[in-house]
Amino acid sequence: MELNTGKLLAFMYWLLLANLVLARQDFPLDHLRPKTSLHDQRQAAQDLINRVLGDRGKAFQVILRPPPGPTNLDIFNLLSDGKEVTITATSGIAAAMGFYYYLKNYCNCQYTWAGAQLNLPDPLPVITSPGKTVTATNRFRYYQNVCTVSYSFVWWSWERWEREIDWMAMNGINLPLAFTGQEAIFQRVYIKLGFTQEDLEAHFGGAAFLAWARMGNMEGWGGPLPQTWIDVQLILQHQILTRMRSLGMIPVVPGFAGHVPKAISRLYPGSKYMVNDDWCGFPKQYCCTYLLEFSDPLFQKIGTMFIQEMEAEFGLDHVYNADSFNELTPKSSDPEYIRSSGKAIYDAMLQADPQAIWLMQGWLFQSSFWKPPQIEALLTSVPQGKMIVLDLFAEISPIYSRTNSFYGQPFIWCMLHNFGGTMELFGDIESVNKGPFDARMFPNSTMVGTGLTPEGINQNEIVYELMNENAWASEPWDLTEWVSHFALSRYGTSDENIDMAWQLLKKSVYNNTGNFDGHSSDVVPTSRPRLIPPLNHKIWYNTSDLYQAWGYLVKASASASLQNNTLFRYDLVDVTRNSLQILSILYYVEIITAFNRNDSATLQDGGAKLLKLLDDLDVLLGSDPHFLLGSWIKDARQWGENEEQQDLLEYNARNQITLWGPNGEIRDYAAKQWSGLISGYYKPRWELFINNLTACLAKGTKFDQAKFDEDNFLLVEQPFTFSKTEYPSQPQGDSILIVLDIYKRYYPDTQSEFFNHLLRFSMEGKKRFMEKTKNRMIKQWHHYSREWKYYDSIIDIPNITW
Ligand SMILES: *[C@@H]1O[C@H](CO)[C@@H](O)[C@H](O)[C@H]1NC(C)=O
Ligand SMILES: *[C@@H]1O[C@H](CO)[C@@H](O)[C@H](O)[C@H]1NC(C)=O
Ligand SMILES: *[C@@H]1O[C@H](CO)[C@@H](O)[C@H](O)[C@H]1NC(C)=O
Ligand SMILES: *[C@@H]1O[C@H](CO)[C@@H](O)[C@H](O)[C@H]1NC(C)=O
Ligand SMILES: *[C@@H]1O[C@H](CO)[C@@H](O)[C@H](O)[C@H]1NC(C)=O
Ligand SMILES: *[C@@H]1O[C@H](CO)[C@@H](O)[C@H](O)[C@H]1NC(C)=O
Repeated sequence: MELNTGKLLAFMYWLLLANLVLARQDFPLDHLRPKTSLHDQRQAAQDLINRVLGDRGKAFQVILRPPPGPTNLDIFNLLSDGKEVTITATSGIAAAMGFYYYLKNYCNCQYTWAGAQLNLPDPLPVITSPGKTVTATNRFRYYQNVCTVSYSFVWWSWERWEREIDWMAMNGINLPLAFTGQEAIFQRVYIKLGFTQEDLEAHFGGAAFLAWARMGNMEGWGGPLPQTWIDVQLILQHQILTRMRSLGMIPVVPGFAGHVPKAISRLYPGSKYMVNDDWCGFPKQYCCTYLLEFSDPLFQKIGTMFIQEMEAEFGLDHVYNADSFNELTPKSSDPEYIRSSGKAIYDAMLQADPQAIWLMQGWLFQSSFWKPPQIEALLTSVPQGKMIVLDLFAEISPIYSRTNSFYGQPFIWCMLHNFGGTMELFGDIESVNKGPFDARMFPNSTMVGTGLTPEGINQNEIVYELMNENAWASEPWDLTEWVSHFALSRYGTSDENIDMAWQLLKKSVYNNTGNFDGHSSDVVPTSRPRLIPPLNHKIWYNTSDLYQAWGYLVKASASASLQNNTLFRYDLVDVTRNSLQILSILYYVEIITAFNRNDSATLQDGGAKLLKLLDDLDVLLGSDPHFLLGSWIKDARQWGENEEQQDLLEYNARNQITLWGPNGEIRDYAAKQWSGLISGYYKPRWELFINNLTACLAKGTKFDQAKFDEDNFLLVEQPFTFSKTEYPSQPQGDSILIVLDIYKRYYPDTQSEFFNHLLRFSMEGKKRFMEKTKNRMIKQWHHYSREWKYYDSIIDIPNITW
């Protein structure tokens, strides 16, 4: 009875909202609507809740209503009498977002990639009438980089996809990329146009390299793509699209960007195309893909056929991603040429789908080729509102602010945060916290959403939780308070040590404020060993904060309520991993300094310490299911229907995370600190290096970096990629006991005065970098950070004790 009165009041309140919510964005994007009826979205949201909570999901009631008044923003209202929670919302996504809002903010729960903490209080927290109402701050929440599907999702079965789509919905994602299975559609189009299987085998990428073949960066590498893969991924895409749509998401599917098989020159001798430059130094067989000339009639033909085939297979959702110039330079900088390219891409979409919207990654604009006239030409080549641009790296290098808000085209403020799915603890949380608000306040801002565009997931979950809350946050957070609540909901228990640990991480690893490059490049354990020039891993924080945070987590591990908590164990392993990673810089510098001083004893001492650290790291990572090479390989092999295919898929899996290309073209870009990879790949490299340096001192010979690199490739790196050695896909040992032992043994070395020098040199480098790159493009960082080798200076400090 009480509840019914409450529901009635909530409904009246809902109607009242009509007067309160006047926000409306004036873009002709209104036709982008979920394909599913509210009735069916309601069922989908209810099913999601049951999947996440099991039996306790029964306590949640979802009611969907059309939005009150003229708003096109998602709204949810939460009411709870302690026994039943009523979520009234405008869409399945709004309901799922309301559900997670309740879990997180009232029940102190968390649901993330590494696991879930869903210890619900009983009775459930009460929210009295008129309840808690939240309106999304923008129309869209976007998710995925075009690379994420290759770096992180590549081996996923439906079961894992299903969990991810639940996660997306709970975080309000309503505009997800859905790129799976597109090779099946391209295959149909090209076969109709006369191409052969062999032509296409040379064109499609291998299973782990599809993202870059699709973008025309290279082709055929890791192939030939098995037909079973193509067929099974198509089935998977049906499952993905069906689920996304049922919840009210608008999936973004591929459009035609112009990248065509090279056989086009044989089949259509009159066709015009440009030959792209070699991307990252791939051999001829894989590089220099063909980009069909935008004015060639075949462009419209293929582009239209592609969307028609998609429509026949899946139906239409109207949003298409196409990137013709992702890390590829257009053949001409003439704005007229650029304009005609944009027009051709969009026209091909439009011919097949009169409601087409072109969604473009704004990554290309990070390149210095793109100056204001070129950017403006591309962005104004289609009518306003017919394009959505992703400001892909907005937390570090926003484009909207230097293009008058994309010259009037709607854009989405995206956090990229991660390259290659590497694992260093890192974040610029000040920018993530404030950036979207600044972008909305920008004069004549055309921002229509927020988004996540990491190249890889499964790292730094705190940064993504924070970014996702920009879906509904009404102002930036007080980060101290926010972090306390994050820690509380992550483990479901308040604990002083835990709070101290996370506050320290917040001010250190997660406060990379001011666009400072350096993270995840030249990370000692996972980098190819180098004496000349020395590795150059910069740090941007006082390492003492990281090590103290580690100490607090170790202390907290004595707490009974934390010991069996999956997310706590994961964090304990992850922070220990990162602490060892930073500590390894000390041993590395000890090694190279000793070598340069002809000090063989110290060299061997440093070498032994580094190798022992790598052994310990491997054991540590092997104790948690999230850090296992064995799982990555097993998941890859499951997609092969015979041994030959399984072996090829395993090769894809191994190559992507190590050599990335036949000869190490993008070596270690997607490095992973995983058990098995440390023992089977990284450690043998370091062993070879240390042995060689030691032998050079003994014989009085010079160290030959080039020769070492060659031997390293032939003796360690390449053999690893061809190897079939099996690694455990189940964790071994007790993480807590392993960490306690590691902490005891390594803590003293974390106190080395060396780290204060390292920070000082890093900061000086940062200052110089900032002065030098003022008003310049971000891409130039990398050159600069290579130029400036501060270890050289550290090595000259006379009285560091190792
Ligand atoms: C915003 O748009 C208005 C109307 O088009 C224009 O007059 C004004 O100059 C713009 N403001 C800025 C800062 O660009
Ligand atoms: C991050 O560092 C900046 C500059 O040192 C400081 O002003 C800011 O308060 C720090 N933020 C956090 C969250 O610690
Ligand atoms: C943790 O799990 C183990 C094994 O499942 C169990 O024996 C132990 O009692 C649990 N500890 C706590 C504090 O729940
Ligand atoms: C190290 O030894 C080499 C050859 O024995 C010698 O040429 C060089 O000067 C020595 N360097 C130092 C720093 O002692
Ligand atoms: C060091 O390695 C290089 C190349 O890998 C090799 O040619 C050389 O013989 C090695 N030096 C010693 C002293 O072992
Ligand atoms: C780092 O923090 C420690 C402990 O708080 C402090 O003693 C040290 O001076 C700090 N180092 C720098 C370079 O700020």
